[in-house]
Amino acid sequence: MQKTNPAKNTPKLTEAWTPESWRGREARQMPSYPDAEKLASAELRLAKLPPLVFAGEARKLQSSLARVAAGEAFLLQGGDCAESFAEFSANNIRDTLRVILQMAVVLTFAGSMPVIKVGRMAGQFAKPRSKPDETRDGVTLPAYRGDIINGMEFTPEARAHDPARMVDAYHQSASTLNLVRAFVKGGYADLHQVNRWNLDFVKDSPLGARYLDIAHRITEALAFMEACGITSDRIDALRETEFYTSHEALLLNYEQALTRIDSTSGDWYDTSAHFLWIGARTGQLDGAQIEFARGIKNPIGVKVGPDLDADTLLRIIERINPDNIAGRLTLISRMGAGDVSKKLPPLLRAVEQSRATVVWSCDPMHGNTVTSDSGVKTRRFNDVLAEVQGFFDACRTASVHPGGMHVEMTGQQVTECTGGQHDLTDADLALCYQTHCDPRLNANQALEMAFLIAEKIKEGKQLA
Ligand code: PEP
Ligand code: CO
Repeated sequence: MQKTNPAKNTPKLTEAWTPESWRGREARQMPSYPDAEKLASAELRLAKLPPLVFAGEARKLQSSLARVAAGEAFLLQGGDCAESFAEFSANNIRDTLRVILQMAVVLTFAGSMPVIKVGRMAGQFAKPRSKPDETRDGVTLPAYRGDIINGMEFTPEARAHDPARMVDAYHQSASTLNLVRAFVKGGYADLHQVNRWNLDFVKDSPLGARYLDIAHRITEALAFMEACGITSDRIDALRETEFYTSHEALLLNYEQALTRIDSTSGDWYDTSAHFLWIGARTGQLDGAQIEFARGIKNPIGVKVGPDLDADTLLRIIERINPDNIAGRLTLISRMGAGDVSKKLPPLLRAVEQSRATVVWSCDPMHGNTVTSDSGVKTRRFNDVLAEVQGFFDACRTASVHPGGMHVEMTGQQVTECTGGQHDLTDADLALCYQTHCDPRLNANQALEMAFLIAEKIKEGKQLA
C-alpha cells in the first residue's frame, strides 16, 4: 500500500511517499556496499524478521511528547553515542538504564515534573563521520561508521562495509530491548528500589549522598501512601515505568526493512525503535533521511545545529509535521556552549511565530566536542553544563517550555569527558576511555547534570 503525504501545497510534497522513496534522494553518510546481492539478501532477511516495537507504543510515546510540548512533562533521552557488538552485555545495559532511571527520579522529584524516558539504545549503531576515510601511518582505509556498517579495527577486512552486520545489529537490538522491557516492567523500576539503584562508585560521593537523600524522601512518601492504601499492587506507576527506545535514522536500508504497516491504523511505522531522529549532517530538506522520516508515523526528532537558518527549519517542520500534530516533532538544539545564546533565540522565535507545535530539547554534547592536548576527542563538563544553562535561559526569554535533554552517557565509570565532581583532567582520559565514537558522561557526571536540570526546572516553575 502506498500513502500520499497530506500536505499538498508544494510540488515536492505531492510526490508519493513509500518506504523506499528515499532512494530517489541524495543519501548522505550512507555506506557503499560493494556486493548488491549480499545487500539484497540482508534486506530481505530483515524484512521478514519481527518488528522490534509496536505502533501502539510509538503512539503512546507521541501522546506523552504532546504533554511535553504543552509544558506539562520533560523528555529525558540518553545513552551511548554508538552501541557496539563488543560491549554488549547485560551489565552494561542495566547500568545505563539505572543511571537514566536515577536521573529521571532526580528530575521528577526535585523538578516536580513527569519525565518521559527514552534510551539511545537497541539500535543506536550507525554513525555519521566528518571524513569518509582515515589515514594512519600512510595507510588510508574507510572510516569506522558504527558496528552496523563496519568494524573499528584498522584493517581492510574490518573496515569493509558489510550488509550482514545489519542483521547482527537487529538481533542485538532485540536482546537489548528484551532485557530493558524485563527490567522496566518486571520490578526493577519499582519506586521502592530507588535507593538500591545507587551505583557503587556514586554511592560514596557527595552526589551519591544527595541522591540517597531524595531516595529516602521517596521511600517515606511511599510508606505514607501505603498507609493510606495506595500500594504498588494497585498502582502500576509505582511498580513499573514506561521506557522507550530511539536512534538516529541514518542507515536507511535497515530502517526501510523494518518499516511496516500497522494493522490497526493502516499507517506506516518504522518498527526498529519508538522514536527516530535525523542527525545534523543528514538534515537536508530534500535529502533521503528527511524524505524517509516524513512518511513514518513514529515521533521524529531533528537535530538543530548552529548552521541551520530559521527559514530552512520552518520548511523541515512543514515537511515532517504538515498537520501540526503535537508530539510528532522534537527539535533537538545542539549549538555548542559558545553559540547557544546567539543562535538559538532566533530559531525559538521563528518557530513560535509559525505556531508550529514542537518539543524543544537540548543536546549539550555534540556542539562541545574538542580534542584534548593528548589528541583524544573529549568534552569539558563545564561546557556541557554551560550549554544546558544557555538553553534554559534562551527558552525562558522566548517563553518556550525547555522540554528535554538529549545526552550521551553510560552507566560505566568511564573517563571520556573532563571535569565534573571528580574533576577529571586531560591526563585522566587514558584511564578508562572506551567509547566507540564520541565521549560520554559517566554515571557521576550524568547525575550531577540531572541535579542542575532539576534546579533549572524548579526555577522555571517558580517564575511561571
Ligand atoms: C549523535 O547524536 O550521535 C550525533 C551524531 O549528533 P549530531 O547529528 O547532532 O552531530
Ligand atoms: Co555522538
